[in-house]
Amino acid sequence: MERTFIMLKPDAVQRGLVGEIISHFEKKGLKLAGMKLIQVNRTLAEAHYAEHQGKGFFEPTVMYIMSSPVVAMVWQGKNVVVLARELMGATNPANANPGSIRGKYGMDISRNIIHGSDSVTSAEREISLYFKSEELIDYPKAGDEWLS
Ligand code: TYD
Ligand code: MG
Repeated sequence: MERTFIMLKPDAVQRGLVGEIISHFEKKGLKLAGMKLIQVNRTLAEAHYAEHQGKGFFEPTVMYIMSSPVVAMVWQGKNVVVLARELMGATNPANANPGSIRGKYGMDISRNIIHGSDSVTSAEREISLYFKSEELIDYPKAGDEWLS
């Protein structure tokens, strides 16, 4: 079963958008495997954005995800990595499809509401940064037959 890592960034929490954004994933039909509210520290923030080390936006992006708690989640389902990226929309909310999460709720690339893994390999790396295996739950759910 494919899994992806999704993080609702500080602006989503501060603006009271958590429930509304989670609804997009639930209504799509995906299955929630893990979820927690956490305060990201510098070590975790730098590991999360390691691929962007050295770029101009690295430090502001690290500071931003440490600025307030975030909601870390794991969602699962067939092709979930690509599906979640489509639900999220383009990195820059100004270019994101207006029906997508970033297109609906965001205005600024540096506060773009949500993170989602960009590949199955990234998803495995990011899930292991944020979750212990015992924090991920496999359970029967109505609709399982359509998820895999
Ligand atoms: P990236 O991995 O390119 O985007 P995505 O989140 O869609 O996978 O970049 C990581 C985050 O860094 C992005 O969500 C917002 C921030 N960022 C900027 O602030 N400015 C930029 O020019 C880019 C490319 C990203
Ligand atoms: Mg990325």
